Amino acid sequence: MTAPNDHPVATFQAEHCLILSVLDAIDREADLLDHGKTIDPDFWHSACRFLVEYCHGWHESREEDLLIRPVERVFGPLHALKEVREDHERFERMIQTPCDSADAGDAVETAARAHELAGQFRSHIHQEQAVLFPLAREHVNAEELRDALALVGEGPAARRAHELEDLARTVIRSVRA
Ligand SMILES: [Fe+2]
Ligand SMILES: [Fe+2]
Repeated sequence: MTAPNDHPVATFQAEHCLILSVLDAIDREADLLDHGKTIDPDFWHSACRFLVEYCHGWHESREEDLLIRPVERVFGPLHALKEVREDHERFERMIQTPCDSADAGDAVETAARAHELAGQFRSHIHQEQAVLFPLAREHVNAEELRDALALVGEGPAARRAHELEDLARTVIRSVRA
């Protein structure tokens, strides 16, 4: 049996760590708006671009293809995984809202949308780590998942994802003091 840290589900866990760090940065920048600082449009454009292109376009699509579908092949539809999918669809609709409010120059609304988005994303990540990842570690074949991740990892989408990881580190560093 594969040890927990050797299972390739750890790839998704590592992506969660980066996403959580960006969510913390979003909350900190939103706190500044709550305390009267002006909007930094570059921050919100970069943060929302990371959420759209990395969280939604890269991380969530691989979660659905490589974790949720294989688990559902074993168990059939599960309520908890249906909720995960519904979160992904909901985030696609909400993900741009802080940036739209920032572009409209509305600091109060930007902060409110940002706190709401960060809170819901965190809950989603915790649910995945509590339910989806343990099921995937138990029931998704580690070698097949490793091969599938390696295949995706050779393509242009993976190179794009690495650029977006650099963007995330820029976002984290750019929160104002
Ligand atoms: Fe997810
Ligand atoms: Fe996730």
